[in-house]
Amino acid sequence: MRVLGIETTCDETAAAVVSLSSRGNGDILSNEVMSQIAEHAAYGGVVPEIAARAHVDVLDRLVERALAGAGCTMNEIDGVAAAAGPGLIGGVIVGLTFGKALALAADKPFIAVNHLEAHALTARLTDGIEFPYLLLLVSGGHTQLIAVRGVGDYKRLGTTIDDAIGEAFDKVAKMLGLPYPGGPQVEKAAMDGDPQRFEFPRPMLRRPGADFSLSGLKTAVRLEAERIAPLRPSDIPDLCASFQAAVVDVIIDRIRHALRAFRTENGDPSALVVAGGVAANGAIRRALTRFCGEGGLPLVLPPPALCTDNGAMIAWAGLERLRRGMTDGLDFAARPRWPLDLDAERVNNGKA
Ligand code: KG4
Ligand code: ZN
Repeated sequence: MRVLGIETTCDETAAAVVSLSSRGNGDILSNEVMSQIAEHAAYGGVVPEIAARAHVDVLDRLVERALAGAGCTMNEIDGVAAAAGPGLIGGVIVGLTFGKALALAADKPFIAVNHLEAHALTARLTDGIEFPYLLLLVSGGHTQLIAVRGVGDYKRLGTTIDDAIGEAFDKVAKMLGLPYPGGPQVEKAAMDGDPQRFEFPRPMLRRPGADFSLSGLKTAVRLEAERIAPLRPSDIPDLCASFQAAVVDVIIDRIRHALRAFRTENGDPSALVVAGGVAANGAIRRALTRFCGEGGLPLVLPPPALCTDNGAMIAWAGLERLRRGMTDGLDFAARPRWPLDLDAERVNNGKA
């Protein structure tokens, strides 16, 4: 079984072909990604209109390359999957419409994929792990702890009540004058810094539940930077290292709480799985490795290229659905908001 996947929900245009391997995980036959970072850098963030136009410019070539790279034609594809949300509506419509048109022209099943579900299922593509498992999804737009119980069966255990973790990294970078996207820059600066110089707050630490809050921490960094201004060369690394240390402490504490809730409802998870761009952060990866090692919990950290947005994860989520007969009509509409856990959506009155 072979599925073509298309991703256009944010600032990466991506297309990939994935097949089901005999071991039950996936084989990535091709995985083409084109980042638009350069186009957005001057604005310090993603501009939705620029993103949508950039997807239109490159998507057809990218899909051609993905098919050629996989050594197959549309005839040899069993289904077309496209991310239908959540994300920037203009970009989502570009990829979704393209995917539907391909499916229609080639007379293949169409699968509308939830971008978050694709992140959630990536560990099955790479490592073939069994349900249920605990997912930490940390990106520029999302910070969630989710019990993944099956395809289409998700329970959100925690989320951020304000900024996403990647967003906090990006905002801290911006206030310290580091270039966009800020996460990798903050990590780089932190390598030469003293994580104990500033005692930043650890919002939500030891609070019941598994929700996150980042905005107070971000503000604390800004106030401290203003207090000690003008900044000397060693101040930025120290501010970054102290901020990152606070984030790490919060993440481990929230996972501890989420695990407790997970075990009460579902028994032991098969693994802790991490996804999203922030999962590329070395300090966070090391802390998670230590935490899981101590608790004897398997840890699945997909390679950074599969943690950030990519087409292979969309193709794989499409494949998981297709083999269960879960396909969609060509009238499937783009969903700028589309939480994985529909109960959580109702509780929050639509705020994903
Ligand atoms: O998953 P992703 O590529 O895109 C979405 O947001 O969907 O994640 C991008 C986010 C950005 O906020 C970026 O600053 C952050 O991930 N990020 C990092 C690192 N690499 C990327 N944050 C901290 N440390 C990193 N090394
Ligand atoms: Zn993403």
